[in-house]
Amino acid sequence: MTQLTAIFKSSDTTFNHSKTSLNSFAPRLLAWFTKNGRHDLPWQQHQTDTPNPYIVWLSEVMLQQTQVTTVLPYFARFMTSFPTVQDLAAAEWDAVAEHWAGLGYYARARNLHKGAKQLVAVIEETGDFPQTLEGWEAISGVGPSTAGAIMAMGLHHYGVICDGNVKRVLTRWAAINGDITKSATTKELWALAKRLTPIENSGLFAQAMMDMGATLCTRRKPACLLCPLQADCLAHAQNREEDYPVKAKKQPKPSKFSNALLIQNKNAEILWVQRPDNGIWGGLWSLPLEFIEKIEGNGKGKIAAKQTEAFDKKSLKVASNEKVYEAEFTTAEQIINKWLDKNKLVATAINKTLLDDVPIKHSLTHFHWYLTRQLLILNTEQSQELTTALQAAQININWLNADNAQATLGLPRAMVKILE
Ligand code: ADE
Ligand code: SF4
Repeated sequence: MTQLTAIFKSSDTTFNHSKTSLNSFAPRLLAWFTKNGRHDLPWQQHQTDTPNPYIVWLSEVMLQQTQVTTVLPYFARFMTSFPTVQDLAAAEWDAVAEHWAGLGYYARARNLHKGAKQLVAVIEETGDFPQTLEGWEAISGVGPSTAGAIMAMGLHHYGVICDGNVKRVLTRWAAINGDITKSATTKELWALAKRLTPIENSGLFAQAMMDMGATLCTRRKPACLLCPLQADCLAHAQNREEDYPVKAKKQPKPSKFSNALLIQNKNAEILWVQRPDNGIWGGLWSLPLEFIEKIEGNGKGKIAAKQTEAFDKKSLKVASNEKVYEAEFTTAEQIINKWLDKNKLVATAINKTLLDDVPIKHSLTHFHWYLTRQLLILNTEQSQELTTALQAAQININWLNADNAQATLGLPRAMVKILE
């Protein structure tokens, strides 16, 4: 037993399991992974002696909030267009945004581009990628768990991961009751993750933990009968797997209501504006949005799907208990909204016989966005005047029909939904 403990970095204090359980965790998990884990994911580096940290960094950032199956085609396109970190760093932001469009959480794409530039600077200075945990944590978009994953899987150094999947497995295995959004629980989980991670093969261990969490110890209905940790899993013993992890109930998301303006010129091209780097959809291209005033409705808890004649064009009836998210409008939108008011121009439903006024619901991290499509056709003089006004404010704009916009601009998912 003394020999076994020697291969771990930290020693036991207040864990819920015996030394035997703690020490046999990694061997059991690795035996399961060797036989039943995924070994064909394109970013995996455990079957090579010369791992590529760029690949692991890129894939880990993509996988931070997105599932493997969704990431696969995006990862392939990134690797084709930007095979090295130097290629990514040298790319135009628009090209990066266009490759990322649809993956969501766009701050990740901006951090990725910034991170690539930081990495190239480190490589130019030191001749190599960062080699320490601190070095990786200094890169934009890389948190402690991603840094641990890169150390372990991308460099074959020692590294510990403790992401959402790991937290789910560990809170169950050790019946950790604390709220995982609290820092005391986070600390406890990191301590346990460190205790369980073997110094040799921490990369394999990290990959095995991710696979376990994604394929066996799933959020709902975990496959405990196939699990190598079943014998001493405390949640399983109590038949309470789904009670973990404990997480404080989230407040319901507020809603925001906007018209999405299809402003058309004489050539049937639509006006697109590039959003500012900070804020929602930073750096991506969007239809101009128009503020819709909220009018308190009948309180039945349902948002009125249609704007009725009884209300002004730019108002929407919503339930009184609906919380409204107040977000800033961009400079471009303020200019456009003002210009429309000044010229007494009003965008209207595209085709009154269709359900055009039914908003498209798009859920973001902090709010639901109800977007209603409205069409406005401008004459040549008007479209030129609007173009001039926007360009005078240094705003990047494009007049493109829907197909060309989708093909050449980085559009957020919500815009693609609107065009469909
Ligand atoms: N989720 C985060 N990183 C992952 C990886 N390397 N493989 C599978 N799923 C993951
Ligand atoms: Fe998760 Fe079930 Fe395994 Fe426990 S036994 S770690 S709940 S899959």
